Amino acid sequence: MTWKNYEPLSRDGDLVQLLGTRHKSHFLRLKSGALFQTHRGEILHDEMIGKPWGSRITSHTGSPFFLMRPGLSDLITEIKRNTQIIFPKDIGYIVMMLGVGPGVRVLEAGTGSGALTTAFAFFVGETGKVITYERREQMQNLARHNLERVGLVDNVEFKLGDVADGFAERDQDAVFLDLPNPYDYIEQVKMALKLGGVFGTILPTTNQVSKLLLALRAHDFAFVEVCEVLLRFYKPDWERLRPTDRMVAHTGYLVFARSVMEKPDEE
Ligand SMILES: C[S@@+](CC[C@H](N)C(=O)[O-])C[C@H]1O[C@@H](n2cnc3c(N)ncnc32)[C@H](O)[C@@H]1O
Repeated sequence: MTWKNYEPLSRDGDLVQLLGTRHKSHFLRLKSGALFQTHRGEILHDEMIGKPWGSRITSHTGSPFFLMRPGLSDLITEIKRNTQIIFPKDIGYIVMMLGVGPGVRVLEAGTGSGALTTAFAFFVGETGKVITYERREQMQNLARHNLERVGLVDNVEFKLGDVADGFAERDQDAVFLDLPNPYDYIEQVKMALKLGGVFGTILPTTNQVSKLLLALRAHDFAFVEVCEVLLRFYKPDWERLRPTDRMVAHTGYLVFARSVMEKPDEE
């Protein structure tokens, strides 16, 4: 299992990241006797097994690679996807706002490709649970495959169903919706979330956020926060340290709210 391996040397069965020059990376599971092939040459898995993390490995054509334990952010960015995914920039803040950590029960929909599910599964650990709803079986299968690949599938319960029909769960610590019309399902969220629990969602346009705000008001949600996360990268050159030329300007608006028994007077 990827996340349980804190050994200093790579082992047969580990999921590894081979970082080539220009940050091109490959993910593979080490298997004695197997051969890794790219257009930059071939490497026998046996040449990578038992090596310290960070080792330089050279392909048969002389191309250099570095052997890394995969980071959560890399795994999510490289995930096999058939849907739009939530990226680490937003996931970090979502996890903080929802209080996702060891032992927490978090409910989400839709599963999509499982990028957010992967992060939730990582943070809740073996004592918590991620319950994830998806209405398309094909998407659910892809997400399950992605979670299996990184060794986190045991922390997740996959449910096939439409949120419109409601959640079977009650008293969840947090609920997150990543689907086009969360404002239509606030009643279902209210039923599944424990009082005081946190609801979160992500929406691409302000019009949708406005609709959501009305729905939240109608269902006794309070302490609403609307925000977006802007992340700017810098060229890591000590003599010419400056932002990179391009930046992802918009992914989505994040909305968070708490389920309360009745709204405070000022709401
Ligand atoms: C943008 S994707 C979710 C991506 C996911 N958060 C990730 O990071 O990989 C939206 C998913 O919601 C699913 N979906 C849309 N409406 C739904 C509904 N009413 N009930 C359940 N799933 C729904 C879609 O099938 C789609 O797979």
